[in-house]
Amino acid sequence: MQHESGPGGRELTVARRRIVGGLDVGTTKVCTCIGEVTDDGSVHIIGVGVSPSQGLRRGVVVDLDAAARAIHESVAAAEQMAGTPVESVYVGVSGPHITSLNSSGVIAVVGAKGEIGPEDTQRVLQAARAVKLSQDREILHVLPREFIVDGYKGIREPVGMTGVRLEAVVHIVTGAASHTQNLVKAVQRAGVGVSELVLPSLAAAEAVLEPADKEMGVALVDIGGGTTDVAVFTEGRVAHTAVLPVSAHHVTNDIAVGWQIPLAQAEEIKVQYGCALREVAAVRQAPAPRLSANRLSLADIVVPRIEELLQLVQSEIHRATGGEVLPGGVVLTGGGALMEGMLQAAQQYLGVPVRLGVPLASGGLADVVNSPLYSTAVGLMQYGCQQVEVPVPSANGAAWGRLVERVKQWLSELL
Ligand SMILES: Nc1ncnc2c1ncn2[C@@H]1O[C@H](COP(=O)(O)OP(=O)(O)OP(=O)(O)O)[C@@H](O)[C@H]1O
Ligand SMILES: [Mg+2]
Repeated sequence: MQHESGPGGRELTVARRRIVGGLDVGTTKVCTCIGEVTDDGSVHIIGVGVSPSQGLRRGVVVDLDAAARAIHESVAAAEQMAGTPVESVYVGVSGPHITSLNSSGVIAVVGAKGEIGPEDTQRVLQAARAVKLSQDREILHVLPREFIVDGYKGIREPVGMTGVRLEAVVHIVTGAASHTQNLVKAVQRAGVGVSELVLPSLAAAEAVLEPADKEMGVALVDIGGGTTDVAVFTEGRVAHTAVLPVSAHHVTNDIAVGWQIPLAQAEEIKVQYGCALREVAAVRQAPAPRLSANRLSLADIVVPRIEELLQLVQSEIHRATGGEVLPGGVVLTGGGALMEGMLQAAQQYLGVPVRLGVPLASGGLADVVNSPLYSTAVGLMQYGCQQVEVPVPSANGAAWGRLVERVKQWLSELL
């Protein structure tokens, strides 16, 4: 809400629309999702725009102008559908240059009577992010995993507790500054501001996981056209993130090389007949006997690459859990998750329950984005909605109470 002076100096309350945009600059497609935050805090998707990706290789901008054109086309399409412009967007940044590490920091509590205040939390997070990075790298996220108060582990929200020594264990995500800056430049060249750069797997997790999944322990695996992005959650927090260099496009490439056909034809064959598991390929009826035989030989090309990918995923999960089973299993999303037999292959290989992750959005155009292809764009928009400014509290106690509740909820989701 915004207060303006009306006739006779009376104050009028003018509703100001809270519009938030998510921009997923993928290697295959550029997708924009525009949402509107309603007064009760829910989000309605009001615009979606998709354009073929250009000027990107494995998540990294290699041609600024081409990338800017693709971004402009996608944002413009979403704005047209939404009937409103979007000033700035939350942008996903991925690629092999993204790395992550765990760190910790410790401080002495200075608050009155040893009570930990928000400034102590800020200080300990600052201490935890003080890691040695080479000059060409920048920090994208500092994600608290747990706080430790006087040696007592597993604390989620230390504010208000009493203690002398406060420690924070965090997961830090970094990117190559040149690559992130080139992405920002491409978005700005397309005429849009950048609100924040966000790791796509965290955004996709926002869209497809329930808080209960994260609490149980789950791995989100986004199989895209350029990279496969992994985010592992345990006890409600991010335990580990990784960007893997094997993606769905490698399968296309293998088919093109194996059968000596153009990439476009290989892509078409992969999407139509590709199968991640030999058993599934063997039992599926194909339109002609010759094609049925080809389907098995196609699986001979596809399956080893999928197994390589699943092996990489498994070692990242192992890194996060130290070999413990993830009770929430694995959620596959991104275009690569749509390949026939993919869920079964992952379940067999990883030995945990596997499901397909589609955006859990409701309201507005939620049905338009009801596919794993849109998880990241929807998640970026939802992530942005959590950051938007809350209405100014009036003297009215009810409104203030609602505000306090929402801030509390955001904090508990963030920490
Ligand atoms: N039905 C399908 N069967 C098999 N593969 C599919 C299917 N639909 C899409 N794909 C594959 O998914 C990939 C694209 O996925 P997605 O749109 O999630 O990638 P992206 O977000 O553009 O890439 P990235 O996230 O790596 O930058 C392509 O390789 C495409 O062939
Ligand atoms: Mg993607």
